[in-house]
Formats: sequence, C-alpha cells, structure tokens
Amino acid sequence: MLATSLKKNNNSISNEPEQNVIEAFHSLYYSKEFKIFEIKIKELLKFYPVSINLMNIYSLFLIEQKRYSEAISYLEKLIKIQPSNYRSTLDLAICNSILENFDKSLKYYHYLIKNNYKTDVVLDQIDILLKKLNHKDIIKNKFLIKNILISAIDGKKTNIPDFWRAFNIIFSKNELIDLTRNSKNLLFNSKIINFLSDDLFLNSLKSFIFKDSEIEKSLIKIRSEFLSLASLNKDIPHKKFIFSLSHQCFLNEYCYFISKEEYETLDKLIGEIDPKNLNEVNISLLACYKPINKILDKTEILNEYKAKNSEFSDLINLQIKEKIVEKKLEANLIKLGEIQNFVSLKVKNHYEENPYPRWSVSLLPQKGTFIEEIINNDLQNKILENNLHSETSKLLIAGCGTGKQVVDSARYGNLKITAVDLSVSSLTYGMRKCKELGINNAQFIQSDILNLKDLNKKFDVIECSGVIHHMKCPNDGLNVLKKILKPGGYLKLGVYSELARKFIVEMKEYIKAKKYSDTAEDMRLFRNDVFNFQVNNIDKDIVSKLFLSNCFWNLSGVRDLIFHKQEYRYCIEELIEMIKLFKFEFLGFVIQKDILDYYTEKFPNDKYKSNLKNWDHLEKNHPEIFGGMYQFWLKNNG
Ligand SMILES: C[S@@+](CC[C@H](N)C(=O)[O-])C[C@H]1O[C@@H](n2cnc3c(N)ncnc32)[C@H](O)[C@@H]1O
Repeated sequence: MLATSLKKNNNSISNEPEQNVIEAFHSLYYSKEFKIFEIKIKELLKFYPVSINLMNIYSLFLIEQKRYSEAISYLEKLIKIQPSNYRSTLDLAICNSILENFDKSLKYYHYLIKNNYKTDVVLDQIDILLKKLNHKDIIKNKFLIKNILISAIDGKKTNIPDFWRAFNIIFSKNELIDLTRNSKNLLFNSKIINFLSDDLFLNSLKSFIFKDSEIEKSLIKIRSEFLSLASLNKDIPHKKFIFSLSHQCFLNEYCYFISKEEYETLDKLIGEIDPKNLNEVNISLLACYKPINKILDKTEILNEYKAKNSEFSDLINLQIKEKIVEKKLEANLIKLGEIQNFVSLKVKNHYEENPYPRWSVSLLPQKGTFIEEIINNDLQNKILENNLHSETSKLLIAGCGTGKQVVDSARYGNLKITAVDLSVSSLTYGMRKCKELGINNAQFIQSDILNLKDLNKKFDVIECSGVIHHMKCPNDGLNVLKKILKPGGYLKLGVYSELARKFIVEMKEYIKAKKYSDTAEDMRLFRNDVFNFQVNNIDKDIVSKLFLSNCFWNLSGVRDLIFHKQEYRYCIEELIEMIKLFKFEFLGFVIQKDILDYYTEKFPNDKYKSNLKNWDHLEKNHPEIFGGMYQFWLKNNG
C-alpha cells in the first residue's frame, strides 16, 4: 500500500501524503518492523520534505531508538513550520536535555510554560533538568531559569525541591544580606525596596520554604520594621511583599525568631483588631508571626468573607478554607479500634499538633506495571523477576503521615492502597491532597499499627518509613506488620541510624541542658541559638549538618528532628538480628547511586549489594552514608 500511495501522490502539490499512508506507517511502527519502516519513511520524506505527519512519526521513532541528535533535526524543522506544535516542542526540550544542550532545553521549556502547555508534565521535566545542572550551568542560564521560575511558580503552581536550589543560586542574596545587616530604616532604602517588589523574590516566598540562615535573618529584620510601623498606626507599604512573607511564614510554620518586644507589639495589635472592619494588610502582617486562627478570635467571619485583595483571599484559602475541607473529610475517615498504648497516645499528640511532613505539591511519578519492577528501580539493581501485577496488588502504608507517601505510590500503578496513621490531622491533610490530585485509590484509616490485625486483610506490599522507631517497642509493631504481609510479599522499612544521627543526639542533649520543651516558642529559641552558635558553644560542623537538613527549616520538621520524645536508633548489627528474628530476606538499601557505586568498588563480588556485614563495615568508616535513616526492602519468605 505504501508503494501505490507513493505513486498516487507523486504529482500532487500537497505537503502531506494521504491519510492511509500515514496510517500504514503507524502500523509498521507499532508492528516493530523498524528496518522497513525507516527505509520507507526516508524514501517518502524525499517527496514530502516538509510533511508534519512524517516528521512527527519519524522523530518519535528516532527518540525511541535513542537517536536524539537526528530526532532534534526533524523536530526543529517541524516546529519551525508549526510553532504551536507543543507536543513536538516538549520532545525537543527533552531530547536537548538528554544531550545536555541545557540552554536550548530551557528555552523550549520556558516557551511551553508560557503557553500553559501540560504544566504538570513540563514541570516534571524541568525538575529532571534542574537536577542535572551544576552551579556553573545555573549561573550560565540564569536569565532563562529566572523567567521559568517566575512563570512556573506564579499562581503557586508548584513546590519543586530543586526550584529552591536554583533560586538560591540566581537570587542576589548577598546584596540583600549586606543591605539588611548594615542599614537601618530598611523600608525607606531604595535598594531594599527593589527587593520588596522583585517578582522572583515575591513568587518564591509564596511557593517554597527558604533554607538559608542569612536570608532568614534579613527577613526577620525587615518583618520587625514593618511591625514597628504598624504599631505607630502608619500605613503599611509594599503590600505584595507582606502577602508573600505571610505565605512563607505559614509554610515554615512560624519558625522565625520573635523578640520580646515583638511579642508585646503583637499582643497590642491583635487586641486592636476590629472584626467588622478588617484591615487586610495589617492582618497579613500579623500573619507573618502567627497563623490567622491565632490572630482572630473567630475565624468564621472569614468563611464567607469577600477579600478586597486577591492576595489576601489566597491567604484565607491557604490558612482557613483548606482546614475547613479537611474537617469535612474527617467524616469519611475510618477509625479502627482504640489507641491505648501510652507511647502511641503521646506520639499521636505530637503529630496532631505538628503533622509531618509538610508538603504542598508532589510530582506524580511514572507508573510501573509490576511491584518487582518498582523495587528493582528503588534498589537500582535487577534483583527480582516480575511477578506481582500492580493492578491486583494491595499496598499498606503504615504510618502514612500527611500522605506524601500515598501520592508517591502512584509509581506502583493503580493498586489498592490502605493508608494508616495515628494522627487525624495528618490523615485529613493527606486526604485533601489526594482529592486535589485526583488520587482515589487510597483508603485512609486512623489506627495504631498495633491494632492492624483487626483489619482482617493481608497485603502484598507494606511501606513503613520513619514510624516503628517511634513506637514503645518497635518489634511489636514489626510483629503485626509481618502477620498481615502475605508470604512472598515485600516490606519497605525506614528506621533511624544511630551513627548517622550522632549530631542529632548531641543536639538533644543541648536542648535538655537548656530545658527547652517542644513548644513553638522553645523551638524558635533553639533555632536562634543555632544561628548564634559561637556564643552558644554549638559545634560548627553540627550547625552545617542542621542547615543541610530539610527538617530544620520548618517547625514540624524541627520537632521531628530534634524534639521527638520517643525515638529508637538502630545499628546494622541490630538490623541483622531483627531480620533474622522475623525470617525476612534482606533485598537491599534504597540509597544514592554514588554510594552504591562506592560499595561496588569496595565489594566487587557482592553482585546484589546486599551483604549487611559489608554495609556495616562501610557505615562505620563513613558514619553519615545513610543520611539519618536506613531505608531498605525486605521479602517475606514465610
Ligand atoms: C515521621 S512521620 C513519617 C510519615 C510518613 N511515613 C513519611 O515518611 O512521610 C511518622 C508518622 O508515623 C505515625 N505513627 C507513629 N507511631 C504509629 C503507630 N503506632 N501507629 C500508626 N502510626 C504511627 C505518626 O503519627 C506520624 O504521622
């Protein structure tokens, strides 16, 4: 058919071959007759050198064959003819990213973002690209990245972890830090005013948590000048900045240091609020110090409130309306049994007050078909043969917290998920996020792991990360999980490492000596001590490690990291004992590739990288390789 159609169209002036020819190429392509496909399409392209359809199919073929440079040449030609072909522009951006033509790739992503083309997919790809860029690459492409960040995070579309890294490199933070360190009357300094109206700065404050001690100190100083102005009943300038800062402070759960004078001014200003005549900017300024429900006696007045500023409306949505949705979702929450164990009750209380982790947007991962495929991916090693089909498997997430793990479980495909936790506020947070993201294959249950036998259900896979080390007796929890895991099923466990958390233990001793408790005030004082580490005799190395931890930059993280009342830390010898006791098979650690490569260099004969004695040896020589937590896969062999 290809030959006849070719002849038929030979004299035609059309740019495109007939539809049946295109369909025939599609069939050839899908039947994987690649050799014939390529010979024929090249022949036909001589007759139709500007055929969009042919270039489209051929470039897809070339991409599948990993012949990216050739694909690029066809795609470039194609989008020159048809600039609104976003699908091909995306392919072009991806191919350039793979070939490390970063500037070209960024240019195409920016174009797609500006045209609102499949934002989630594009952001996903930008995230992959940003991970590949080193400091120099980011500086080199500063303007493009800045424009991407401004467009991408406008309207709070995202919270991609690598956006903070990119922002931190391209933002002129040193200038801001110097200016705030050396000047007074900051709000009247024209250079500072430039910062307070900078789109990248304003959008970023609204979108992701800042993790830089010097920027934090600058923001604290600027915030305090605004508060002084408000206490003098002066009009608050730079409203946009105030709205953005109030978002930032909500995201970090008000972890910034507050002085005694500021507390007094806050109390005075809160007392002066007229609920019938809300000053939106002033409330937003106060909301840089406290959540709105602690500023207004009755937040009900905000339920139907029509804001004058759209930015204030965003703030109410974030702080009030999302909570209302969560409260409504609580009605759908299944509650299994009584929580009686006194440690479980204490831990529940902790996570009711500070649900963990705090997250806003998660990129939906690629879906797999078999459970084993996902585990092999995690372990970066082909250890298991495909056996358990995702569609028919059941996953339990024991101690799901705020549901980030539930969303990440989309990688398994569409399996049935049961997500369990002690804390209602964590569970409803997760339920709301799943609803927003259209994830409806998860059932949320409030239960103690100790009660899970009463579910009368068995699971193919269980994930339990960062949980059993907070139980009174972790082995009791594990015992229950073992009983509800099917024979041949898999368990992913995450538990604290004693060696990697040595610096945390030192900080735990510090807060004990200082008699700090886990109140917000004391946690803020602790963070301030860390900032002033020299006067407080805190080791500089510990400070660097704290700054590198994501947890340090918001209050629930600090509580989880340092102020937890119940934690058990393991060494690898104990893991060996535990695995033996429960008759599990150790499959391997989930760890960065460079560490796996290092292991292979040291122990080249261990093909599966799963000899725990070797790992023990490695950890003793490099105590921080597990970054605070051992994450590993086990198989239930009966
Ligand atoms: C550090 S968070 C980890 C959350 C989640 N696994 C993650 O990695 O994002 C620990 C969670 O375990 C839950 N948890 C602790 N002990 C539990 C128990 N006995 N039964 C159920 N959940 C528990 C807590 O309520 C908390 O939400």
